Amino acid sequence: MANVTKIDGSSEYDIQVLNESHIAQILYLQETIVKNLSDPTSYYAEPTPFFHKQIAIENSVLGLFQKKQLIGFHIASFPGLDEENLGTDIGIKQEELLQVAQVGPLAVHPEHRKRGLFSRLLERHLQVIKEMGYKHVCATVAPANYPSIKGFISNSFAIKQLKIKFNNLLRYVMYLDLESNLERPKYSVRVLGADTESQKFMISLGFYGYDVLKNENGFDIILGRDEIKV
Ligand SMILES: CC(C)(COP(=O)(O)OP(=O)(O)OC[C@H]1O[C@@H](n2cnc3c(N)ncnc32)[C@H](O)[C@@H]1OP(=O)(O)O)[C@@H](O)C(=O)NCCC(=O)NCCS
Repeated sequence: MANVTKIDGSSEYDIQVLNESHIAQILYLQETIVKNLSDPTSYYAEPTPFFHKQIAIENSVLGLFQKKQLIGFHIASFPGLDEENLGTDIGIKQEELLQVAQVGPLAVHPEHRKRGLFSRLLERHLQVIKEMGYKHVCATVAPANYPSIKGFISNSFAIKQLKIKFNNLLRYVMYLDLESNLERPKYSVRVLGADTESQKFMISLGFYGYDVLKNENGFDIILGRDEIKV
């Protein structure tokens, strides 16, 4: 993979695979991200050894630069048969767990948000992950984190599970099949984003979340499925 890539042919932002020399910048950026969180449970601040470990993995850590300043990062991991493999939460077959890649944590500097930069980082990483031969991509997202949910949904991820995950926090498990397109389901239901109990119930009936729409007070999650048995 080329080390530096221009976004939209513009010279304003570059995406680069990060290495050990970038650790200080990553930690500084993470500090800024954490200070600016409106909901402190939406992002878990990773300790320094986590970044050292990830950087040692090929193509794991992408950074977004404006000039020479790091203003975003996007991390992928390849869990293999580790118990943290999110494929087990969404029913991926045992024999395909080795084909699961996971994305996150990810972040964009507050001053550069809402410019599509998360989506650009995600698109670039998905391209790399596909080239590496992976078929399934999973991510966990806090149910109140609209920008993150919206970014994943816009990139064809579906909400497949809602459960307590790492650090005892409630998380959507989002999923993208790199080999087939997500079809619009025949039947759908609109549920308040904050009503996680109803969403859990719908998911237990085989529904999956495939859209997110703003409402007056927040947002709704649109869940659907093809068949309804009566
Ligand atoms: C989540 C995060 C990375 C999004 O970064 P971003 O570069 O602003 O995201 P994008 O500009 O690509 O936006 C993604 C989508 O969300 C929407 N969006 C982003 N921020 C939004 C906001 N504050 N309000 C409403 N919509 C927003 C965008 O319009 C876009 O929708 P679209 O794909 O339909 O156009 C950023 O908010 C962040 O760093 N948050 C703190 C860390 C975090 O929560 N990380 C995720 C958990 S690990």
